[in-house]
Amino acid sequence: MSNDIPHAKPLYNVKNPFIAKLKRAHDLSAPGAPKHTRHYEIDLAGSGLEYVPGDSLAVLPTNDPALVDDTIHALGLTGHEIVNHPKREIPVSLRRALIEGSSLTEVDNKLIKAIVEKTGGETSLAPLAVPEQKEELKKYLYGRFVIDLLLENPSAKFEAQEFVSLLKKLNIRLYSISSSLKAHPEEVHLTVATVKYNTFGRERGGVASTFLADRLTPETPIPVFVNLGKGFRLPDPAEETPVIFCGPGTGIAPFRAFLEERKATNAKGKAWLFFGEVSEKSCYFYKDEFEAYLGDGTLDKLATAWSRDQAEKIYVQHKMLEHSAEFFAWLEQGAIFYVCGDASRMAHDVDKALHTIIEKEGGKTAEEASAYVAALKEAKRYRRDVY
Ligand SMILES: Cc1cc2nc3c(=O)[nH]c(=O)nc-3n(C[C@H](O)[C@H](O)[C@H](O)COP(=O)(O)OP(=O)(O)OC[C@H]3O[C@@H](n4cnc5c(N)ncnc54)[C@H](O)[C@@H]3O)c2cc1C
Ligand SMILES: NC(=O)c1ccc[n+]([C@@H]2O[C@H](COP(=O)([O-])OP(=O)(O)OC[C@H]3O[C@@H](n4cnc5c(N)ncnc54)[C@H](OP(=O)(O)O)[C@@H]3O)[C@@H](O)[C@H]2O)c1
Repeated sequence: MSNDIPHAKPLYNVKNPFIAKLKRAHDLSAPGAPKHTRHYEIDLAGSGLEYVPGDSLAVLPTNDPALVDDTIHALGLTGHEIVNHPKREIPVSLRRALIEGSSLTEVDNKLIKAIVEKTGGETSLAPLAVPEQKEELKKYLYGRFVIDLLLENPSAKFEAQEFVSLLKKLNIRLYSISSSLKAHPEEVHLTVATVKYNTFGRERGGVASTFLADRLTPETPIPVFVNLGKGFRLPDPAEETPVIFCGPGTGIAPFRAFLEERKATNAKGKAWLFFGEVSEKSCYFYKDEFEAYLGDGTLDKLATAWSRDQAEKIYVQHKMLEHSAEFFAWLEQGAIFYVCGDASRMAHDVDKALHTIIEKEGGKTAEEASAYVAALKEAKRYRRDVY
């Protein structure tokens, strides 16, 4: 498998990211779709940064300045106070520290402890701030940001530096790369669902996905580096190995990259893509590209599952089961089965469907099907990149 060759030492990392800029972006979901998913093309010119399909891109986002200002206001501070940058050894304004360095959407236990102390225990957090109530605390914090705790506990007052030291550091976010360098030299593409929701009367946004969707201009620095995909790789293009890709939602990202790579390398083995989204009309991401690939032989089969276009849910695993005989035949021919996307429900249900297909079409017991799947994994023919 030629693509399994390890990379040279990466040029960029979390301490030394490449500062990229946005080249182009467009919505993949139509207006009125139940969620917003967007395609981003990021310029890597001059970086020397390399990746292969299956890798992901780490993005170092900044916080929403409006949330930062609201948080500073809730603290009763101005934002001009000088503090240590949470990630670098430099003095900066509190406002800059909160935009660039601290997480305002996750709450550190240190902050909870400080609020309990400063309120003399007169806070709804007090009974939750013990190890036995860990799960209850987690439930309480779900959908709450740092600002909610400040507004709920106005008697807890903080100095600027003290406050910053009670916050978690702002973390990177990973995105599966959705392009091939062979098709787009010096560019990296991403396919990102914008996280937005309303809890406790406040409109909320995911840090990185709204940084990309709402706060990028062509001049905005986007610090990035490549995170190597652990074994999520295509077979050698000269091999006849069939490949089956299952990528509902943003899980499609690495498979768009794989298909671009297959076309650029004239890959020999046959390919089958399962894609699912809520609706064909509003969320058929990369439709024209996939249909063109069917026409030119880059893709041999395409199965789509639109979950909300009819009364009952139709998911990718239903499409796998519908084509179970052929699916099993591809496995018997040595196919590699790749799954990407939601880990919490989809990956589990797709796994269940895989077992069902092997039992039904292979005439196997549940135990034999489990052994078959274990052997697929062992042979690196069942590869998952789920989050
Ligand atoms: C290897 C890998 C590859 C990935 N590839 C992709 C990809 O290609 N495309 C993609 O879009 N994502 C991808 N992700 C997910 C991505 O990394 C981020 O987790 C995602 O974009 C959310 O980040 P965010 O900063 O926008 O949101 P965050 O600021 O991290 O917020 C997300 C958090 O918000 C909270 N939340 C969300 N909805 C609600 C709600 N309704 N009620 C209460 N709380 C809520 C939850 O606590 C959730 O954990 C990938 C992840 C991994 C690990
Ligand atoms: N924490 C969670 O419960 C949860 C769930 C899903 C996604 N997410 C996260 O939300 C982000 C964006 O998700 P996304 O845009 O990639 O799309 P997604 O929410 O995964 O949805 C893509 C498609 O998958 C369908 N789907 C839902 N449950 C499924 C299942 N059990 N099996 C197969 N398909 C299923 C959806 O249908 P319907 O929506 O119509 O059911 C939709 O048609 C990701 O970061 C993902 O991890 C979290």
